[in-house]
Amino acid sequence: METIKNTLAQNFGGNLSKLGTNQFSLDDCPHLTGKVGVVTGGTRGIGYGVAYTFLKHNISKLYLISVNEEVAERAKKSIASELGEEVASRIRWIKCDLSDWNHIKSVAESIANDTDRLDILVNNSGRGVMTPERTSYGVDRHMAVNHIGHVVLTSQLLPLLKKTAEKGNVVRISNQASTSHNSAPEDTKFDSLDDINRDVGANAQYGRSKLANILYARYFDRNVTQKGHPNLLMNATHPGVVSTKQSKTDIHEPFPIAGYAVSTLLEPFKKSNFEGAIPTVFAATTTTAGGQYICPPATPEKGSELAQSDKLADNLMELTRKVVSEKTPGIEVAI
Ligand SMILES: NC(=O)c1ccc[n+]([C@@H]2O[C@H](COP(=O)([O-])OP(=O)(O)OC[C@H]3O[C@@H](n4cnc5c(N)ncnc54)[C@H](OP(=O)(O)O)[C@@H]3O)[C@@H](O)[C@H]2O)c1
Repeated sequence: METIKNTLAQNFGGNLSKLGTNQFSLDDCPHLTGKVGVVTGGTRGIGYGVAYTFLKHNISKLYLISVNEEVAERAKKSIASELGEEVASRIRWIKCDLSDWNHIKSVAESIANDTDRLDILVNNSGRGVMTPERTSYGVDRHMAVNHIGHVVLTSQLLPLLKKTAEKGNVVRISNQASTSHNSAPEDTKFDSLDDINRDVGANAQYGRSKLANILYARYFDRNVTQKGHPNLLMNATHPGVVSTKQSKTDIHEPFPIAGYAVSTLLEPFKKSNFEGAIPTVFAATTTTAGGQYICPPATPEKGSELAQSDKLADNLMELTRKVVSEKTPGIEVAI
């Protein structure tokens, strides 16, 4: 019974979300005065809920990385009208498509030149359940944006993150994964570009990239946190089933008719984008452990068998380094 209650609470909104144990709410976000953060995809959906919460809790500077300028302007206006002009002036929006790894490198350099500390990095941007396609580098777009783009960003920001942690601050990185990591193909090996470029369909393609988000957090914990950087934590999260553009609009791209089950029938039970922000806010401000897969509101779960495989995580990160160095010479994945 407890398991059923927790599953309902983890995935759905409203009263169902209160059935779970281990409650954490956005009001529990600590004061972030003096801290600096980066949120990818922070201008709409779950990322906006996260960014709004950080600003409400007085973060000193917040870089938001996304693609659509109109959406970014709307986000800034809505922060200004709800939290005030001074709070909105702490936002630095940077346009960057995370499939463009060369551009990510220059974005990270501009951030590192603009701040002497970085306390929070939220790797949240994502391509949702959509038709498989390749980027201009010839890499599956789900993996290129959801996983590899965030590895490149994190890697380029790592010296700044380490410097901040070495001064005695707890620095937290949070990757937006999903329970959909269970849809990754059972025979996923992450041992070659062909393996990640296999067309396995919209759901599995998305799920495979979300599996990578969890494996990356566990790999980082073993190879960075536990190897001399105890104040530098990376975790992965599942936000629940959340009412956003991904779950209302994008889902119709691969599934024009069947998508109504998710976009419409499920809509009354979904979490709001603020409810969906809760696990990320916990992971980015409060948790004291790394390498976890945190489900709503703040409950570490094991995840699938594949998500618990150190061997698969090692393969993934070796492949990530290889693909990045081959496709974008000059960019080193330092993790
Ligand atoms: N909604 C759910 O039920 C659910 C469940 C599990 C996990 N998630 C994950 O939660 C995260 C946020 O999604 P959401 O539901 O909030 O969807 P959303 O409202 O569509 O937001 C997606 C965000 O990602 C950004 N983005 C997409 N492609 C990008 C790219 N190539 N480069 C840079 N930024 C890009 C978008 O920027 P623009 O607005 O500029 O395009 C937008 O800010 C995603 O990682 C998603 O997979 C969502």
